[in-house]
Amino acid sequence: MGIDTTCSNEEWLDEAYKRLLSKMHAQCGRIGTMIPYSPKKGKYFDCAKVEQMGGVHFWTNGFWPGMLWQMYEATGDELYRETACGVDERLNEILTDLKGVDHDAGFLFLPSAVADYRKTGNALSLKRGLQAANLLAGRFNPCGNFIRAWADNAASHFDENGNVSGWMIVDCMMNIPLLYWASDVTKDPRFSQMAARHAKTAQKYIVREDGSCNHIVELNPDTGDFVNNPGGQGFCQGSSWSRGQSWAVYGFALSYRHTGEEDFLNTAKRCAHYCIANLAVNDWLPLVDYRAPETPRKYDSTAGMITAAGLLELAEHVGEYEKNLYVDAAYNILRACENKFANWDNETDSIIDGGTFFYHDEDGRNTEVPIIYGDYFFIEAVLRLKGKSLFIW
Ligand code: GLY
Repeated sequence: MGIDTTCSNEEWLDEAYKRLLSKMHAQCGRIGTMIPYSPKKGKYFDCAKVEQMGGVHFWTNGFWPGMLWQMYEATGDELYRETACGVDERLNEILTDLKGVDHDAGFLFLPSAVADYRKTGNALSLKRGLQAANLLAGRFNPCGNFIRAWADNAASHFDENGNVSGWMIVDCMMNIPLLYWASDVTKDPRFSQMAARHAKTAQKYIVREDGSCNHIVELNPDTGDFVNNPGGQGFCQGSSWSRGQSWAVYGFALSYRHTGEEDFLNTAKRCAHYCIANLAVNDWLPLVDYRAPETPRKYDSTAGMITAAGLLELAEHVGEYEKNLYVDAAYNILRACENKFANWDNETDSIIDGGTFFYHDEDGRNTEVPIIYGDYFFIEAVLRLKGKSLFIW
């Protein structure tokens, strides 16, 4: 049962935090160093052991350790640290077999190895983080100034020719903070130069004037010229995939944090205002695509959780009036999604239901289900509001 809808934001937050402590303690004991993605019949399984899901390389595998590092920061309970270290150990395989590392290196290693380094100074985690940053930097296209998305084989379901060497995607705005971090720790500006150039290219081709976004943009990999904006995980070409919108809000706010370039802050605000407007007319519940037909009505709670966390980041970089706007909107989203989708039963796995991986999910298996990054960003947002979060990005 969701938290009382009539209570104040402060009361809601205290109650959400209390329930989170209890649920995460139960889950950590039960799941340990398994790497979960989405439960089946209320039970997580180790998706790193399922090769059809990408095994240990799957892009979401950093979120469980990220949840554990967040809980360690909030509580100091050693069980969380020990379990997170065990998962980080497993993720090391990605850096040794080098199969399938792509633009998602940031999602994999910022909430795991880099979180550990930030929190404990672990020298091995520093090495892992830098190795991941080097792999991400190796995907930079200097003619087009962008980080290339995906491997050809992985993206073949989008492009029948299978050549996606000129593709960049909005999601990558959340991966480039790995490069900003690498420059911070090495004092070598090359990483952050690549990140900022990618962000500028994304600003030019991904974000539209009204703050809506393309998911994918294809550039000519030899010249950097614009070729096309194919549809991606949203409804169609030119529509507005809500999780992509949320990556843009959070990602541009982060590019502002790391570079101080005002332009990135303004882009983050533009994307945020677009999201707020579209959420406000729908009881603060995120549709999978803000420009899809009215029916069928499909939600993606993960877009809400990421948008809320991104708005809280944005709130740190603006004056008092705007800060209230963003924090209030974040509360509205968190509360609406918690009320509709939360599972607070300590005996079953996952917290936030209602996540959708992509719009055209014909068999419905990935529609309105709990997804690990929905839980991660819910935890991050709640802990941020409590002043107890670890900075990850
Ligand atoms: N980064 C892939 C997604 O958001 O589905």
